[in-house]
Amino acid sequence: MRLRRLVFDLMDILDALRSRISTRGFLDTPVSEATARAILEDARWAPSGGNLQPWKVHVVTGEARQAIIDAVKAKLEVDPFGDENAFPVYPEKLWDPYRARRYAVGEQMYDILAIPREDKAGRLGQVLRNFDFFGAPVGMFFTIDPRMNPNQWAHLGMFIYAVTLAAEGRGLATCMQEAWTRFTKTLGTALDLPEDEQVYCGLALGYADPDAPLNTMRTERASVEEIASFRGF
Ligand SMILES: Cc1cc2nc3c(=O)[nH]c(=O)nc-3n(C[C@H](O)[C@H](O)[C@H](O)COP(=O)(O)O)c2cc1C
Repeated sequence: MRLRRLVFDLMDILDALRSRISTRGFLDTPVSEATARAILEDARWAPSGGNLQPWKVHVVTGEARQAIIDAVKAKLEVDPFGDENAFPVYPEKLWDPYRARRYAVGEQMYDILAIPREDKAGRLGQVLRNFDFFGAPVGMFFTIDPRMNPNQWAHLGMFIYAVTLAAEGRGLATCMQEAWTRFTKTLGTALDLPEDEQVYCGLALGYADPDAPLNTMRTERASVEEIASFRGF
């Protein structure tokens, strides 16, 4: 690892854990296929129960990226709620502390953008930015076989997180995007996916725009005291 770091100047894993953020403003600097591949070459070492590796990923740029954006835009025009029977991202009535955390991050975002609660169109406009990958030149879509159990979905999450850290290590930025799950069916058609692949989540990949106000956002976390118990020490 030390040698690799000397050669490639890769960021330390602990730095990456702390410095990764959800980036919501990108430069139009292209990301080469070689870079996207290198990120996946690293991320594929993510662990999974039984080593199932229950993930696939589809990487789009250029015309392929635009085709996805167009397909979702067309769907949005006829149905602003997305696909029928799209699986809901959150439980129906979220409870505290989760509800409060979700609310806080939304407010933090709209405060930075100075979009008040009453400005419904302004807030919706920001949500819709998801569907052009916040300007990122590359999009990724992570899929899983819908027959898998909750455990395998958790393992898919490990792969996605590994992608974000591998990108970070190469000086790139990401935003994981569950917003796309509203369009699982539309994306399945647009990406010509087989039955055994269902889009779970998208990801925007590119170089962070240092002037994008939202990229100054740093979110809070519950303390270790709140989330952990230590026994037998
Ligand atoms: C699986 C996953 C999906 C997410 N989906 C979206 C999304 O659709 N749009 C968005 O703007 N942020 C999305 N986020 C970003 C979260 O809001 C963000 O991770 C959280 O607020 C913590 O902030 P941080 O990533 O900057 O540390 C997603 C994060 C994860 C882990």
